Amino acid sequence: MSKVYKIATLPGDGTGPEVVAQGVKVLKAAAEKFGFEMEFTEFNWGGENYLKTGVVLPDDATEQLKKFDAVFLGAIGSPKVAPGILEKGILLKLRFDLDQYINLRPVKLYPGVECPLVGKKPEDIDYVVVRENSGDVYTGMGGVSMKGTPNEIAIQEMVYNRAQVDRCLKFAFELAMKRHSKEHPWRGLSEEDKAKGYTSQLTLCGKTNVLTYVFNLWERAFHEMGKQYPQVKLNYCHVDATCMWMVKNPEWFDVIVTTNMFGDIITDLAAMTSGGMGISAGGNLNPEGVSMFEPIGGSAPKYTGLNVINPCAAILAGAMMLNYLNEPEAGKAIENAVAYITEHKLKSLSAGKMGYSTSEVGDLVVENL
Ligand code: IPM
Ligand code: MN
Repeated sequence: MSKVYKIATLPGDGTGPEVVAQGVKVLKAAAEKFGFEMEFTEFNWGGENYLKTGVVLPDDATEQLKKFDAVFLGAIGSPKVAPGILEKGILLKLRFDLDQYINLRPVKLYPGVECPLVGKKPEDIDYVVVRENSGDVYTGMGGVSMKGTPNEIAIQEMVYNRAQVDRCLKFAFELAMKRHSKEHPWRGLSEEDKAKGYTSQLTLCGKTNVLTYVFNLWERAFHEMGKQYPQVKLNYCHVDATCMWMVKNPEWFDVIVTTNMFGDIITDLAAMTSGGMGISAGGNLNPEGVSMFEPIGGSAPKYTGLNVINPCAAILAGAMMLNYLNEPEAGKAIENAVAYITEHKLKSLSAGKMGYSTSEVGDLVVENL
């Protein structure tokens, strides 16, 4: 009997449902081709459901999702709901409650995709950001006092503990080791580095010159753990300099590991250097539990229902999900099909300018699997 994967889908708001539909279509086609089954169960959590019922997320949401092999999410956020309610109440709550402590965001320039960085080619932009996903200002620790007065104080703390830092670094080191393969040999390393026996590179992105407590912790943990990985060359960059190098010399990067807030910011920049939100996918990973895969762009309300949004990011999130479900061949086939259509079919990655509708792009990926 073939393996059956149980997937919870959370299409969510705006264009989320449209891109999830294409992702599911491609996943079903891949399953058929590679000999496994996927069973999808949809949950309607999001803006519309909240406005109708007043419930942001049912109390047993996490328990329900724990029964699945993975979660496939579209987009959360609606212009009809005040900022923060849905984002914190659904997306961040699920990331926290399911303890998805890694947010893995590959940055890859696909062939044929217009790159805003002059002269950069697909081989120059191919790295991964490991964004810590459970700590930092996202924990919501802090408070406000004297609200509404000229002396109002607002505090939101950057919170990390050693265990959180260590588990994130361990994932990043292991990934750096795995990335040294036929596809990414010695990425970012010089001849001299290779002669020293390094095979991989891991960059810690921080701000040790200002955020001295938090990044002292990260830096110490980074160097201590680095001793267990002698083939990994340790590299450190301040977050502002990271932004600069991501634009000027993206070929220097292989794996970047960083905190939650910095990771949020630099991955939007990274996405724009590799074709934009239409093609950028991410995985919220709990390597010991249930992970959740999503296109990293938002709900794009102005394109809702028009069948013009680019579903490639959601389709690639699906591919990533297959890799984590241990179906790497199927995941790779989807990635290759996306690379084929970016090179030979799509006129642009922007909504409305692709030369195809949302559903036609899904069909093109299926045809080229
Ligand atoms: C992201 C988003 C979220 C984040 C928001 C919507 C809460 O920007 O996934 O990058 O800040 O993590
Ligand atoms: Mn973001």
